[in-house]
Formats: sequence, structure tokens, C-alpha cells
Amino acid sequence: MNQEAVFRIAVLASGSGSNLQAILEAIDRGEIEGGRVVLVISDKKNAFALERARQRTIPTIFFNHRNYLSREDMDRDIVESLNKYQIDLVVLAGYMRLLTPFFINAFQDRILNIHPALLPSFPGKHGVADALKYGVKVSGCTIHFVDEGVDTGPIIMQEAVPVYPYDTEETLHQRIQVLEHKLYPRVINLFIKGKIKIQGRRCIIDEK
Ligand code: GRF
Repeated sequence: MNQEAVFRIAVLASGSGSNLQAILEAIDRGEIEGGRVVLVISDKKNAFALERARQRTIPTIFFNHRNYLSREDMDRDIVESLNKYQIDLVVLAGYMRLLTPFFINAFQDRILNIHPALLPSFPGKHGVADALKYGVKVSGCTIHFVDEGVDTGPIIMQEAVPVYPYDTEETLHQRIQVLEHKLYPRVINLFIKGKIKIQGRRCIIDEK
């Protein structure tokens, strides 16, 4: 990549956007080489992630699923926008909708997701609560490529945190998010540098 080249990232988020914020701050610090967040998309009109983007004058789009007859119809419009903005990488950061095969095929091996548990344990919307309820002593976060399943794509990176007896869903999630905010920028930087190779289910990372 020459010095001028910009690697164009879209972040999709449904909630507070603390991971979006961590990515933006990592870019500010020069930790995501060549990366720029050029578009933020949400399926929730009032997602604070959209506000964080607006504060930085990053273009935002809200997609209302009620305007669509099917999930694929909405994903077709999202993909059209991603193409219009010439997106190189799609980063799901708390985006609470399952992507359709149409979306996944359009950005094959170029969609990342972060999950607040150590996959393949506790996939789905309630990963933190499910891990706590189960009684695990260690949980953590997982960054993986997105495929058609629920949190089933090849795992890129995981890190663990302890679970303490006094933990609530909130305290455990907070501990996991501290990790998430470090790990996501690191993985995005590795992706941009072409250092993540997918071999079947395994991702081989060359962090040298
Ligand atoms: C994160 O904990 C992530 O693992 C999960 O959703 C949460 C999003 O948090 N997929 P935020 O909106 O980035 O603060």
C-alpha cells in the first residue's frame, strides 16, 4: 500500500459503539495503518454509535428493518451503500442482526465480528449472561470472520478474563470490553496488512 492509500472501513453497530470509539481512537494514534472509518451503519435510529460518528462527521446511515419485506431486501440496500462508499472491510461492532448469505457473499472473508465470550461456547445475543449463568471461571472475547451461522465463522483472536464470584453481567461485560477495545484495533490492523490467512477453519496470523 502506498502512503496515500486509504483502507476504507465500514462499522455496523446497534448500540453504544464503544468498540467503534476504540477503533477511531486507535486510528487517531496511528495504530491502524492506512485505515479510515468512512461509514457507520445502524439498524437502530438512536444507537449512540451513530452519534459518535456524527461527532466526527463520519457519514452515517440508519436502516429501518420495518421498511423491508425480508432481511435480504434490507441487506441488498446495505450492500449497495457499502459498495457506493467503496468499502474494503466491514466491521460488526455490536450489530445485532444476522447477515444474510447475500451480504456475506458480497463481502466474502471481509466481514469481522466481535463476540463477548470464548466461542464456540456461548454464541448468540446473551453471551455474557449465558457464560455467567453456566458458572464458567474464565470467559473473554472472540474476534472472528462472519459466515452464515450465529458466531460460527473462523476464529481470528481470543483473549480470556477471569470470572469472579461477585460478578454481575455488567461487571463481567465491562472486564471483557476492556479487552475488546484493545483486540479489535489490533486485528483490524493485521487484516489491513494482509497478515491473517484463513486455512479451513483456522486463521493463521503472522504478527511479526
Ligand atoms: C460488545 O461487547 C461486543 O462483543 C458485542 O456487542 C457489544 C457491543 O458493544 N457483539 P459496543 O456497542 O461496542 O459498546
